[in-house]
Parts: sequence; structure tokens; C-alpha cells
Amino acid sequence: MSVNERANFGSKIGVILASAGSAVGLGNIWRFPSELGSNGGAAFLLVYLLCIVFLGLPVMVSEFLIGRRSQANTASAYQKLAPGTKWHLVGLMGVFSAFLILSYYVVVAGWTLEYTVAAATNSFSQGTDYTGFFNDFVSNPWKSSLYVILFMLLTHVVIIRGVTEGIEKFSKVMMPLLLFIICVLVICAFSMPGASEGLNFLLKPDFSKITTKVVLSAMGQAFFSMSLGMGCLCTYASYFGRDTNLLRTAASVGAIDTMVAVMAGIIIFPAVYSVPGLSVDAGPSLVFVTLPNVFNIAFHNAPVLGYIFSVMFYVLLVLAALTSTISLHEVVTAYIHERFKLTRKAGAYIVTVSCTLLGILCALSFGVLKGATLFDMNLFDLFDFVSAKFLMPLSGMLIAIFTGWYLERKIVRDEVTNYGTIRMPLFKLYIFLLKYFAPIAIMTIFVNELVK
Ligand code: PHE
Repeated sequence: MSVNERANFGSKIGVILASAGSAVGLGNIWRFPSELGSNGGAAFLLVYLLCIVFLGLPVMVSEFLIGRRSQANTASAYQKLAPGTKWHLVGLMGVFSAFLILSYYVVVAGWTLEYTVAAATNSFSQGTDYTGFFNDFVSNPWKSSLYVILFMLLTHVVIIRGVTEGIEKFSKVMMPLLLFIICVLVICAFSMPGASEGLNFLLKPDFSKITTKVVLSAMGQAFFSMSLGMGCLCTYASYFGRDTNLLRTAASVGAIDTMVAVMAGIIIFPAVYSVPGLSVDAGPSLVFVTLPNVFNIAFHNAPVLGYIFSVMFYVLLVLAALTSTISLHEVVTAYIHERFKLTRKAGAYIVTVSCTLLGILCALSFGVLKGATLFDMNLFDLFDFVSAKFLMPLSGMLIAIFTGWYLERKIVRDEVTNYGTIRMPLFKLYIFLLKYFAPIAIMTIFVNELVK
């Protein structure tokens, strides 16, 4: 292989890793198991996989092509490709989703920080009541707010210093390391006493469990996990080279993202069925009350190894969450910077302060603000619902319509075939999914859920 070819290969891996870095995060390890647990197990997984293939991947290719064609961030991409139209509102919606997601995502990111501290100080010894630990922590207004502030500060520092070199190099080490620990835990999961029950719950679908709520949740999770419908991947794609194969990149990112989510499920559910008192539908607390048990059960013969692995795992979880909060923060900061002609620094401060305040309110909704609900949801659940189950799929639908109906077909073809230099055997299917399937399917799911 010549030097040139190797350099080329290296950059392709870089492209995939960068996009996968944005996609893989708490969405896979925290949100996926808790949604799956509350929505009927394997039946949810099945619908989720269908959503990834038939909705997520086409929308991801579209975001890639919009970003690479326009060579601009989301807010201006639509202005470039569709000047004088209202399409730029799709970009704006993405910025708004990023703002909402960051405000509640940082709460869970704060939990990972607290769990790192607890693991490092050996607070998770055998016999601890992990459910009690979690509930005490999240309902303590000072502690949970403190971790929100700390995590936002961490994000802020990285954003101000610039997201270049450092973070990129560091994710190249971090991602494989995280995957390594996950693989070790997957192997351990098979030896847990509740392994077969847990795996049955994850893999043996009971079709009667598929309701409109399950379908909406699975679709929302697919968009959330792949970072779709809010401009992150569109911005990344503006840095892709002319020779990047968009379809292949999307397929690789989708595969990595799905694999991590499924592996998280393989770790969590056997553990849930191995410990009395844990329940699959515990919601957002599921992973946090289960993980300390996983380490205890898996390493009961080697507590020192358990200690090392658990601290490493929580640190990596913090870092995985950090790369996601950075990308969310960046979307909003870049928008404020360009739209209101403020300095980047001023933009970043505005985002940090406002998201910290909202983040604290979300954190308090597990304690003192528990009773403050709207449509039966506390603030945390409301932000999660509005962004993942409404805004992201809606914007995914609009992106599909934009690429399928509005954009000139030649532009779409040129981008996905790299100006005719690569074959795209699935082009017709891709266009069909964008023009008809995605809009109709997403609309139907929305309407069904509304009229329920
Ligand atoms: N996909 C990320 C995760 O799984 C969350 C995220 C959503 C990040 C949207 C950026 C944009 O954790």
C-alpha cells in the first residue's frame, strides 16, 4: 500500500470516529436501557432497529450531504441551499433542541461525575443500598445542583479553549478504551445468575407489547442516539472531504452506535434480574442503580480489579458525556456568535449561564420541584420528551422532505455518488425512503400518539 493510500484510509477512520464520537454517549449507555426497560424490552429493540435502518440512516445521509454541500453550519446551511425560503427554520429548530437537550443532559452528566467520585472513594462497597444512594443524591438540591454547575464549567472550559486537536486526539484513545471496558462487562454479564432472564427480556420480543407509545419512544431514541435532527452531524459533514463515502460513513456510525447501545443492554438487564429489588422499568435511575451491582457481581472474587474497572468506567462515561455536551454547546454557541454578531466567548457565556440555570431546575425536579409538573411531566421529563420525542423526529421528517422533494435531484445524486465516482446501488431506495416512507411514517406515529 502506498503512503498516499494509507493517509487516505487514516482520514476515513477519522471521519467515522468523529461522527461516532458525537453519536455515542449517555444516549446509548443511560437512555437506551432505561427506555427499553420502560417500553417492553425486546419488542422495543426490534422497532428501534427498524427506525435506525429505515429512518435514521436516510436522515443521517441527508444531514451529511446538506453539510458537505453547503460547507456551512446548520443555521446557514439551509440559507445557502434554499435562499429566501423558510427552510432555515429547520436549522433554528435544531439549535433550540440542542439548547433543551443540553439543559437536561447535563443533569445526568453530573450524576456520572458524582458516581466517579463515589467509586473512587470506594463508597460502593458490597451491601450498599444503591437505590437509596441514588435517591438521596438526586433529591439533595445542593449536591445535584453542584454537579450540574461543575459539568457545565467543564464543558465551558473546553468550548472556550477550542474543540480542535486536543479533544480529537483524546477521543481517539477514549472511545476504544470505553469499548474495551464495555466488552469486558459484556463477557461478565453472561455469567450473572439472572443472565438468561435478562437476555430474554432484551432479545425475545413479545409483539403484543408494541403500542404507539413504544413506537414513538423507539423512534425518539433512534434520533437521539444518532444525534440526528439538530445540526451536529450536518456541521461535522462540512469538514468531510470530497472523497468521503456518505452512505458508508452513515452505515458505520449507525452500526457502532447501535452496537454500543445493545451491549449496554446486555450488561444492564442480566444484572437487573440478578439482584432482588431492581426493576426493569425504573426509568432514568435504572442504569445508575444497576451499574454498581454489575461491578460487585462481576468482580466479587477480585475486588481490586472491580475497583479499578469501575473507576475507569465512570471516568470514561464522564468523558463520553463531555464530548456530547461539547457538541451540543457548540451548536448553540456558534449560532449565537454568528446570528447576533457577538464574540464566540460572549456566546459561550450566554449558553453556559442559561443552560446551567435550566439544568439546575431540571436537577431539582428529582427533589424539591418534583411536584412542579406540566402535562404530567416534571421539567426533566418534559425537556426530554419535547426534544427527543417531538423536535428531533419532526426535524428529521423535514430534513427528509427537504432532500427528497426540495433539493435538486442532481445535487443529491452528485453528493451521494461523489460526482459519479462511486456506485450507489441503493439510490432509488434512498430517495423513496426520503420522499415517502420517512415523512408518512413519522407523521403517522405523531398523529397516532396525539389522538390516543
Ligand atoms: N447522541 C448523543 C448520545 O447518544 C446525544 C446527542 C444528541 C449528542 C444530539 C449531540 C446531539 O448521548
